[in-house]
Amino acid sequence: MKFFVDTADIAEIRELQEAGIIDGVTTNPSLVLKANRPIKELLKEICEVTDGPVSGEVASIELDDMMREGKILADIAPNIVIKLPLTLNGLKACKRFTQEGLNTNVTLCFSANQALLAAKAGATYVSPFVGRLDDTNIDGMELIADIRQIYDNYGFDTQILAASIRTANHIREAALIGADVATVPAATLKAIVKHPLTDKGLDGFLADWKSTGQTIE
Ligand code: E4P
Repeated sequence: MKFFVDTADIAEIRELQEAGIIDGVTTNPSLVLKANRPIKELLKEICEVTDGPVSGEVASIELDDMMREGKILADIAPNIVIKLPLTLNGLKACKRFTQEGLNTNVTLCFSANQALLAAKAGATYVSPFVGRLDDTNIDGMELIADIRQIYDNYGFDTQILAASIRTANHIREAALIGADVATVPAATLKAIVKHPLTDKGLDGFLADWKSTGQTIE
């Protein structure tokens, strides 16, 4: 399973990129608001830090405006993925961008039927929001499993991008189900590096090494 980091914070992206942990980046309007920078400048800098796919989201809901904004975003760098909402206009825009050979990420997906439509429109990625479904007492991970089965049933090559991931268990379950990608906040990605037995073992090795009186030269 690939990891994308769900952030527009350059320092976070750079750190995870240096550790070889991430394969790409997803942003959304709320993350751009948090970064408090002009979107074109921000996405350009993110695309300089990583050559993996970088999702940038259109801000309009009318088809012509989505097409115009998507083209502006795609012109920023070759690794931009145009992120479109799962609406009828979003699906129309997805189909057109796909025909033009551009990559798309259809976002705000909350049902298996919506994911089926995104695949039929030719989406490169579909983003089902696991955490936000969990918030409403619906098991978000069941949606990932349903989409996996439906895409496999019909041989769709749209990639399942498990989004709104909040916990280490979400990551593990998404990987077991076979999601193609999980987009994860930087703090959650850094948290899964750690294990108490790793820390305990390291403390022991450091103490024993000190007792040897040796240095590695
Ligand atoms: C996905 O692309 C979204 O940016 C993101 O995963 C939403 O997560 P949230 O529900 O934590 O805002």
